Order: sequence, then structure tokens, then C-alpha cells
Amino acid sequence: MSPDRSESRSEGTRTVRPPGWEPEILAFCCSYCASAAAGEAGAVRLRYPAGTRILSTPCTGGIEMEHLLEAFEKGVDGVLVVGCPDGGCHFVEGNQRALRRLERVRAILDEIGLGGGRLRMVQLSDSMAPAFADHMREITETIRAMGPNPLKPARKESAGRS
Ligand code: FES
Repeated sequence: MSPDRSESRSEGTRTVRPPGWEPEILAFCCSYCASAAAGEAGAVRLRYPAGTRILSTPCTGGIEMEHLLEAFEKGVDGVLVVGCPDGGCHFVEGNQRALRRLERVRAILDEIGLGGGRLRMVQLSDSMAPAFADHMREITETIRAMGPNPLKPARKESAGRS
């Protein structure tokens, strides 16, 4: 399992948890490794949180800072980027570029009080389905402790209430 690269990040401002709130996590998964791990996790019924949404991408190096910031603007509570292991990126250094971009975005999230801890990256091979499920559970619990994304659009919060 690769190291979690978010230990030193702030948890930002803790926010109020509406009743029934479950963290919504967007997982950007490299299609060469993580998508297969996620697919395998589902196929063998490894449990990971229901609030996980998976977005497959050809390489984590193609994930721009704007994509990450836009996800938070749209209200996701946490983002996990899952790329190939060091030396395994099919675009040579895409995963290293992604790590550098994540550091910059986490600094921005800290600066605006959202908390850089809402964003992390891990590196997995395609055969690491159990590790994928573990990381999804871990980030979900981190976000549960931090509370909902305060930028979450109001309509999402009020959906289902009558
Ligand atoms: Fe998987 Fe680059 S091809 S992170």
C-alpha cells in the first residue's frame, strides 16, 4: 500500500452535519490501474462506502487543478485521486505531475479554510482491490470527522426535505 500523502494537511473548519448526511467522495481513478482495482473491488463485493463516485481518467497527470477545485465547488465532500505506482505510469511522469498539482490544490484548500485534508492521492496497481476499498473507507471516515463541504450547494442540502 502506498503512503497516504495527506498527513500534514489541515482539517479546515468543521461544519455542521445535517441529519442523515453521508460523505460524498469523488474518486478520480487512472484507467490503467485504479479503475481495474475499483472494478475488482466491486466484483468481489469488497465493501466500500456507498457515497463513492468513480470517475475514470486515462492518467492522473491529465487532472488539472481546475478539475479538483471544480469538484469542491460543486459540493463533493472529499476527493481521492488514485494513480499508478511510482515507475508504473503509462505516461512516464503523469502520476508525479498529479502529486505536485495536488499539493498546490491542498494548499489552496487550507488557505480558504476548506481543509487540504479533503483531498488526497494514493498509488495502486490494478491488482490492489482490497487496498482501494481500504483507502475509500479511510478517506470517508476522515471526511465524516471534518463534516460536509461548506460549499455544497444549498439545493443539495435541502433535497429530500419537505
Ligand atoms: Fe496511471 Fe499515469 S497512467 S497515473
